[in-house]
Amino acid sequence: MNFDQMIDRRCTESTKWNNYPQDVLPMWLADMDFKAPQPVIQALRDRVDHGVFGYGKAPKALNEAILKHLSYYFNWSVDSEAISFVCGVVTGFVHAIYSLTEPGDRVLIQTPVYPPILRAPKATGREPVCNPLILGDDGKYAIDFDDFEAKIATGVKLFILCNPHNPVGRVFTREELSKMAEICLKYNVWICSDEIHHDLIFSGCQHIPIASLSPEAAQATVTYFAPSKTFNIAGLSTSVALAENPVIKDKLQQTLSMLLGHPNIFGLTAARAAYQEGRPWLQEMISYLEANRDFLVDFITDSLPDIKIWKPEGTFLGWLDCRQLDVESPHAFFLEKARVGFNDGLSFGEDGRGFLRINFGCPRATLIEGLTRMQAALERS
Ligand SMILES: Cc1ncc(COP(=O)(O)O)c(C=O)c1O
Repeated sequence: MNFDQMIDRRCTESTKWNNYPQDVLPMWLADMDFKAPQPVIQALRDRVDHGVFGYGKAPKALNEAILKHLSYYFNWSVDSEAISFVCGVVTGFVHAIYSLTEPGDRVLIQTPVYPPILRAPKATGREPVCNPLILGDDGKYAIDFDDFEAKIATGVKLFILCNPHNPVGRVFTREELSKMAEICLKYNVWICSDEIHHDLIFSGCQHIPIASLSPEAAQATVTYFAPSKTFNIAGLSTSVALAENPVIKDKLQQTLSMLLGHPNIFGLTAARAAYQEGRPWLQEMISYLEANRDFLVDFITDSLPDIKIWKPEGTFLGWLDCRQLDVESPHAFFLEKARVGFNDGLSFGEDGRGFLRINFGCPRATLIEGLTRMQAALERS
C-alpha cells in the first residue's frame, strides 16, 4: 500500500488522463490515481485465468460481504433481499426516476450538485426543482429547510439526495437528515439517496444512511452506493441499489435487466474481494486522503489567499471558491495558464459559477505539482 506511488495512467484507456492535452495535469474527474487493493487485483487475475466469461449473477458471498460492510461502518442492518446490482450509480438513479415518477413530475435536487444529478430530471422529461444549498461565510454549505419544505410542498414526487455531497463536501448530520426525511415523509415524497462516497469520511464525521434513520425512512428510500469510489474500481461498472420497500423494489425490478443489462462479472469479482478483504487498504487510504485534504486546505489558505476553501468532511473533492480572482472563467484560466485541468464549477449549476472542483485522490507529489502550477500562474498574471 504505497499511495505515494506515481502510476502512468496515460498509457491506459483512462478518461481522466486522456481528456486534456498531454501537458495538462488532470485534477478533475472523480477517480483516484491509486492502485486497487491487492486482494482485488489477485481476485481479478484468478478470474481471468479461469477463462470462461459467461453471464454473471452476484454470488451470495458478495451480498453477505456488503451487509457486513454496512453493519460495520454504518451500524445499518438490512435484508439481503433489498440488494440489487446496477452498472453504475448514475444509471441507477436515472432508472429510479423512470421507475418511481411519471413524465412531468417534479424532482427536487440541492445545488450546486454533481452534474448528472443536476441534469437527470430534465433528461428524463421530469421537472427539476432546486433547493439551493446556502453558502456560509466560512465556506460551509447548509440546507435551507424553509425552502426545502416550500419546494417539496409544490407537489414534488422524488428527492435526489447526494450524501456525502459532491461537490461541497458535506457529510450531513443526523439532525439534517432527520429533518429532510421528516419533510419527505410528510408529503409522501420518495427519496433516492446517492451515497456513493459513503466510505470516504474524515475524522470527526460519521456517515448516516438516510434509510437507516427509521423504518419509515427506509420504506421511502432507495439508496445507491458502490465499491467504485471506495476501492478505486469505478471502471468495473458495478454498483448497488438498496430498496427495503417491496413496492420500490418491484417498480425497479420491472425494467432492471431489460434497461440496465447484466452485471459485469469482473465487477462482481472485484466487489466481492474488496468488501471481503479491502478494509486494511481502505483504512490506510482514508488516512492518506485526509492528510491530502489537510495539505490542500493549508496550501490554499497560506499561499493562494484569493481562493477560498472549506475543509471537506468527506469525498476526495475540494470546492474552490475563486470568485475573488480577477478572471472571467477560473477553469479556462488555470487550464491555459497553469496547465491544470479541473472541473468547472458552472457544470454543477449556476451557483457554481466562479468555483472549481479539485480531485485530491492522488499521490501527494501530484497534488503539490498541481497547486504549485496554480500558484505560479497566479504570480505571473
Ligand atoms: C455523487 C456521485 N454519484 C455518482 C457518481 C458516478 O457513479 P457511477 O460511475 O457509478 O455512475 C459519482 C462520480 O463521481 C458521484 O460523485
